[in-house]
Amino acid sequence: MDIPPVVPPGRMRALPRTVLGLPDGWLLRHWEPYDAPALVASGTDPDIQRWNRTGRFTEARAEERIARYRANWEAEEAAIWAIAPEAGGLPVGLIGLADLDLAGGSGEILYWLMPAGRGSGTMVGATDRVSRWAFEELGLHRLRITHSVANPASCRIAEKAGFPLEGTMRGALLHADGWHDEHLHARLRTDRPVRH
Ligand SMILES: CC(C)(COP(=O)(O)OP(=O)(O)OC[C@H]1O[C@@H](n2cnc3c(N)ncnc32)[C@H](O)[C@@H]1OP(=O)(O)O)[C@@H](O)C(=O)NCCC(=O)NCCS
Repeated sequence: MDIPPVVPPGRMRALPRTVLGLPDGWLLRHWEPYDAPALVASGTDPDIQRWNRTGRFTEARAEERIARYRANWEAEEAAIWAIAPEAGGLPVGLIGLADLDLAGGSGEILYWLMPAGRGSGTMVGATDRVSRWAFEELGLHRLRITHSVANPASCRIAEKAGFPLEGTMRGALLHADGWHDEHLHARLRTDRPVRH
């Protein structure tokens, strides 16, 4: 028996690229070429480098990366947003869906915040907002978050955004100081909504 794709090809590309609102004066919007300095700054933050392994950017490489975010969306391979002030200005963070398997109905949430965006619960709200978009608008069935077991802040974000811990993946990701075990967290479309 043929199993139909959970999300048919073309559905993601056809979705309107709307801004997603967040509480407390933040929103999720698409990365624009003029946001390149924010990516350059992310390359100088030791915590983002340690945990997200994004590498350093020149302004030109940052612009290329932003162009790639747009191309990846068009190709239905990833959906990446900037976390930016509602009032305008440079992003303080990034959140997105990567490793998308539309036919299988799953994807992985990635995120980081610069120090200016940390400490106020913004990422819990952003993770919940992107999850609801992924389930309700895109139609995915399962989302996961993975992080090094040595990163307790990311573990708390996952738990608080409705992604309970499912297990530990041994030697799952190579960091600058060697292989790290990673926690696997996941949220299903059928899980109860999160209160935060
Ligand atoms: C991970 C990250 C998104 C968390 O965002 P944040 O704004 O710093 O987190 P918050 O201040 O909302 O804190 C969330 C929870 O984590 C806890 N926490 C934060 N930093 C912590 C740390 N270093 N150690 C232990 N717990 C920590 C907070 O106490 C809070 O827990 P509580 O709700 O039970 O009080 C952000 O710190 C970040 O981007 N860090 C650098 C890169 C990174 O870790 N990326 C994730 C890769 S998987």
